[in-house]
Amino acid sequence: MKTLTTPLCEILGITHPIIQDGMGTYNTASLAAAVSEAGGLGSASIPGMNIDPGKGASLLQKQIETIASRTSKPFAVNIPVGRISTGAMLPTSEAYLSMVIREKQNGNPGFRKLAAITTSAGFPNEYSDKIHGAGLLHIHKVGSVKHARKAVEKGVDIIIASGYEMGGHTHANPVHTMILAPQVIQAVDVPGVISGGIADGAGLAAVLAMGGAGVAMGTRFIATEENDWNENYKRMIVNAQEGSDRVITGVYGPARFLYTRAIDELKELENSGQYTESELASWKDQRMQLSMETGNVEEGLVPSGQVACAIREIVRISEFLPGMAHDAASLLKNAYSLVKQ
Ligand SMILES: Cc1cc2nc3c(=O)[nH]c(=O)nc-3n(C[C@H](O)[C@H](O)[C@H](O)COP(=O)(O)O)c2cc1C
Repeated sequence: MKTLTTPLCEILGITHPIIQDGMGTYNTASLAAAVSEAGGLGSASIPGMNIDPGKGASLLQKQIETIASRTSKPFAVNIPVGRISTGAMLPTSEAYLSMVIREKQNGNPGFRKLAAITTSAGFPNEYSDKIHGAGLLHIHKVGSVKHARKAVEKGVDIIIASGYEMGGHTHANPVHTMILAPQVIQAVDVPGVISGGIADGAGLAAVLAMGGAGVAMGTRFIATEENDWNENYKRMIVNAQEGSDRVITGVYGPARFLYTRAIDELKELENSGQYTESELASWKDQRMQLSMETGNVEEGLVPSGQVACAIREIVRISEFLPGMAHDAASLLKNAYSLVKQ
């Protein structure tokens, strides 16, 4: 098997330059442990933004401890940073960040192999020094060159640039991966990781050929054996066609889902004018859990990237991850043979 190593592997202590990106509100403990065990970087995901902050932080702490009990390899935690109209950080984001920093600093054994916090949505100005102070790397996810530059100025160690085709919450200004990736990679002097629409070795090879340091994926990792998603959800991904995805208002901005009846139901609720934003957000959270836990994918919401239409089988991460790196290495070798000196 051919393999690859990039600055991302060195900085994170991983074998393959492949990150499993955060997928809240789902518990990704099993998935993250499997990805890290297979040589990538798994990530814990938040249990939600509309949850009691103390309860949310305690659930996330348990998730991190569970990952640590299943792998001795490095992993990360994803924390979206929301703000209220005054500019203050959302209490949930604040609770997640302060819990992770506190437990890492206190030497909680479950946090020893936690290598990085990946922030997304907003930038955690108030916490960037504290993240480094706790001995954690700071990865920040952006959807524009401007935000990538700003984050690097503020000292982040790794940038993830995700294009509009990504699953779950996506960006308000739609810039697709193929436009965003080369620009962000050129604009920053830290390892640039690309996500949104990547599912195989070809995607990884393309990113490395552009000078990127690796890829991050969400949707591809749902259609795998080693996670807690209901089989019906996984099947919906492998059966998705071009045009199966929709962008609707998610819990905190636009979000991409596969089309199900729940999307029509949601529109009716929104148009009725009878529900507050917070009530609608809880409804969405519940319907997302319904599809993942019970497999009721018609009444449930099914967050997924557009790349679902290119995913055709449910794979085993322990084989898929090294295979993806091998495919990328072979494609890069073939591409190199085109170079004439
Ligand atoms: C089910 C699901 C939930 C997600 N939840 C989060 C989240 O909590 N935080 C975040 O930063 N991104 C979230 N995302 C986006 C992923 O982290 C990742 O950027 C995205 O899936 C990459 O695009 P892809 O789906 O084409 O691989 C989510 C994506 C999915 C599919």
